[in-house]
Amino acid sequence: MSDEERADIGLIGLGTMGANLALNIADHGFKVAVYNRTAETTRRFVETAGALRPLLTGCDSLEALLQAVRPPRAVILMVPAGQVVDEHIDRLRPLMDADDMIIDAGNANFNDTNRRAAGGTRFLGIGVSGGESGARFGPSIMGGGPRALWERIAPILEAIAADYEGTPCATWMGEGGAGHAVKTVHNGIEYADMQMIAEIYGILRDGMAMEPLEIATVFEAWNGGVLKSYLIEISAAVSRAADPETGRPILDVILDRAGQKGTGRWTAIEAQHLGVPATVIEAAVAARNLSARLEERRQAERVFGPAPRPIARDALSIPVLEKALIAGKIICYAQGFDLLRALSEAHGWALPMPGITRVWRAGCIIRSTMLNDMAEALDNNANANLMVSDFFAARLRETEADLRRTVALGAEHGLPVPALSAALSYFDMLRTGRSTANIIQAQRDYFGAHGFERIDADGTHHGPWAGH
Ligand code: 6PG
Repeated sequence: MSDEERADIGLIGLGTMGANLALNIADHGFKVAVYNRTAETTRRFVETAGALRPLLTGCDSLEALLQAVRPPRAVILMVPAGQVVDEHIDRLRPLMDADDMIIDAGNANFNDTNRRAAGGTRFLGIGVSGGESGARFGPSIMGGGPRALWERIAPILEAIAADYEGTPCATWMGEGGAGHAVKTVHNGIEYADMQMIAEIYGILRDGMAMEPLEIATVFEAWNGGVLKSYLIEISAAVSRAADPETGRPILDVILDRAGQKGTGRWTAIEAQHLGVPATVIEAAVAARNLSARLEERRQAERVFGPAPRPIARDALSIPVLEKALIAGKIICYAQGFDLLRALSEAHGWALPMPGITRVWRAGCIIRSTMLNDMAEALDNNANANLMVSDFFAARLRETEADLRRTVALGAEHGLPVPALSAALSYFDMLRTGRSTANIIQAQRDYFGAHGFERIDADGTHHGPWAGH
């Protein structure tokens, strides 16, 4: 095979994301050699690729795949995160030349990516967001690894990425696991955005007795305003959809138990690890965990009875809920960026804060118009808490009372709002110049002689309880 005939890039793993990514790459005129562990899947994928078929080479072994790619080779792994990635690296490494690179495009734990990047192979870890249709028509791509390798492959990644007003949503974030770290935080925020929408949906459904179609109308209206985003758009779409089997609104037949693959949990773990209060994300992860405990919830409902849910229609208006969600979202992103800054420092990266908001503006699951304003605020000061930037401080002043009203009504009526109330508590704690940690300090000193600082003198002091 001449170099001319060889593919520009290889791709391993033809699951939903891999198959769509391969088609996307081919759609942009690049030749792709593909391999899947089941040869039948590879054969069928190539055969059904229609007009793109001439750009695809199906391979039935890793050796054949490497033969089919032009050196220096770039091979994308789109396989399940974890051990399967390591197995592929181990199998590929002895077959590859020194200049060849492996690109892990799955949802890897960035700590694994850091380890793999240090392992001697030329290795890039890229976070790819946008689900199935993003992979096919333009994902958001967060790259990590040696910059020179990123630059070698950037023409392909930029071509296939989502486009935001002429700018490709594909950015190099830093060395090692930087790209996967940004993707992990993206997913933590995704969990929180989804949970806060679900909490508002709960108030509309159980507090205000609204039907899915009415709820769809609310979300559709919000999608024309400050909350305009992919997640609000799809929340409207799923609220409006009917179940083909029963004709009922589909939301009314879907079980209230959500799964997860773990990236939200990783975000919460990293936040705890670094001492960053990412409470909205943590609440969202916990809520998803609790959603899975269906039997336990049913049993508790039998024990305590359902909460007194209905809210008088004049006690709460739709614009109040909209503003509550705006406030929750701002606070959640402020925490997300706080975590990104801490990750950047802890791992010696220089994560480009405004660049991250820009790469999230199109293609990814959390894309929203608010990210534009966040980019501007971070351009002005990448290190300050987003909440105290002029723009978002003004937004929070306008919406704080509505977040408070929503959380209060939720509490009063037994409508769970864990993420929104985490946001409110964070807001209240952040704006409290004199917190209550003085008594924590006193307690620590009392039981453990840990010492405390005084407001009127330097150094470490002890209380009058020595030898108590
Ligand atoms: C994306 C999504 C994507 C994915 C996760 C969802 O950005 O495209 O985040 O990576 O949908 O699998 O994660 P859970 O299964 O944990 O909800």
